[in-house]
Amino acid sequence: MTTHIPREFIDQVLNQTNIVDVIDNVVSLKKLGANYKACCPFHDEKSPSFVVSPAKQIYHCFGCGVGGNAISFLIEHDHMSFIDAITELAKRAHLTIPQSVMQAAPVKPRNDLYELMQQATQFYEMQLKDAQAARAKAYLINRGLSGVVAKQFSLGFAPNSWDALIQHLRDQKFSLEDMITAGLVTPKDHNKAFDKFRDRIMFPIHDRQGRVIAFGGRIIDQGEPKYLNSPETPIFHKSNELYGIYQCLKLHKNLEEVILVEGYMDVLALVQQGVTNVVGTLGTATTEQHLQLLFRYTDKLIFCFDGDSAGKKAAWRALTIALPKLKSNKTLRFVFLPENEDPDTFIRQKGKAHFDATLQQASTLSEFFIQHLSEGLNLNIADNRAQLLHNANQFLQTMTDVQLQRILCQELSHQVRLPASEIMAMIKTSSAPGSAILSRISLSTMPSNLRKALAIILQYPSHALSITTPIVGASPNHLLLKQLLALIHDHPAITTSGILERWRDEAEWKELIALSAQPLLIAEKGLEQELQDAIYKMVSEEASQQIDALIAKAQKVPLTDDEKQRLNQWLKTR
Ligand code: UTP
Ligand code: MN
Repeated sequence: MTTHIPREFIDQVLNQTNIVDVIDNVVSLKKLGANYKACCPFHDEKSPSFVVSPAKQIYHCFGCGVGGNAISFLIEHDHMSFIDAITELAKRAHLTIPQSVMQAAPVKPRNDLYELMQQATQFYEMQLKDAQAARAKAYLINRGLSGVVAKQFSLGFAPNSWDALIQHLRDQKFSLEDMITAGLVTPKDHNKAFDKFRDRIMFPIHDRQGRVIAFGGRIIDQGEPKYLNSPETPIFHKSNELYGIYQCLKLHKNLEEVILVEGYMDVLALVQQGVTNVVGTLGTATTEQHLQLLFRYTDKLIFCFDGDSAGKKAAWRALTIALPKLKSNKTLRFVFLPENEDPDTFIRQKGKAHFDATLQQASTLSEFFIQHLSEGLNLNIADNRAQLLHNANQFLQTMTDVQLQRILCQELSHQVRLPASEIMAMIKTSSAPGSAILSRISLSTMPSNLRKALAIILQYPSHALSITTPIVGASPNHLLLKQLLALIHDHPAITTSGILERWRDEAEWKELIALSAQPLLIAEKGLEQELQDAIYKMVSEEASQQIDALIAKAQKVPLTDDEKQRLNQWLKTR
């Protein structure tokens, strides 16, 4: 879901925000020279390596490498969405949020609906304690669930009645209309309505803040449908939600790894057995939103789906959804349980230790990728190897993280017996303009002159206005520099934090932050000259290379008009 928030508004919010206040709210900062320091709130440490710079409006931890501006702090530390972070900062700065943001923001919290769902949850929980619910209770016990886990997940029971819930909610002064909107009651003609969930075990679905937003209801023993679920409502969007995420986040401050399963009972069985870093999709395929959400809290995700072909298919689908956005600092792994087992049956039969051991052996992304794509192929046959390469290519093309792409190509190179570099070259980089090209640069291999130039520009944007050397190269490095200069030219008052904001979703984000935070060790009055020199050197190095290459070529074949023109331009540059 992309939202268009006007760039000027984001700039305005950043300009009127003081990052020191934002961070001082949660970490107590100590002034040290021009900066503030603290122990890093993102990792455990004894001596402070977390620095906040009021001049640049950024934070950076020299210990664990996190960093960013006020917006990213709220996203990373308070787990807010981008829109929520902007909204929050705008509110603090008393700025009026443009209409377009309001429209894109989630529907205003419907307090009445949340309250209604809360009352329904309590009603179902009470019913589970009732004598009428003996069968339901016995069923849960039989499936190995304790009262503790039942309470932790607020499990309940919907009695076998057409209107028990309606009556209860009516007593609490809720309108029938709201009950219908909340998806708990099904309307019938002539102003009649009945309870949607009857004679079912109720699994409330919580949002991240712990509010109940929907229910799943399981039939006791056999019957159809096995699970009945809440429909989409103003407060419930199935593809954004994960079962158990509230309970999981409540137990874990730092989630090293999260296990993603498919079913309600899978989540509960794992938690019951002490595997508490688990969440479930709600009987839907894994969505991009699920992955985005989970990767906000953890770097490692393990899919643990059923051991049948549907489970494999679901895992593959998840992989293809993940590939385009996946970054190399995140890992995805896949566990395939034996045929006819799901996480619930498996852990109850084999125990936690065995389950943990199975997780240890999870397939990596590249293993599963290659294994799935080579299914049915005999890789001793050249044609089949070509087929594999062809199959892989269409997925590799969707990726934006070069490092990860390279890893997959390396793995693939053994199978198809081609050097990884050739496979990389083959992946037709779908030529999206601007940022897509930029996201393919690996900054850590950037020439030092470029690093120096970037660091100075990022930290003292106004110095960029004095650059006179034209940047004519078309390499990604040059494009990045050109883009930065154009940006500063258009917004002469832009801050470090404002510049970084434009790279939030790009692969270079982290590296640009590191460059922004890195001490320059150059006296301030010498900076402008250093910058000029660095850019001049960078451009002339590139010019020499290009000139040498074109001249070498000219000795073999006549140059095209375009090439001649480029050669001229380079000669002029030098
Ligand atoms: P499963 O059929 O694998 O369910 O469907 P399960 O969790 O193993 O259920 P038990 O162990 O038989 O109780 C996985 C998920 O798909 C959704 C539910 O979210 C379920 O947990 N589902 C399944 C439905 O929504 N409706 C159904 O009729 C079946
Ligand atoms: Mn099951």
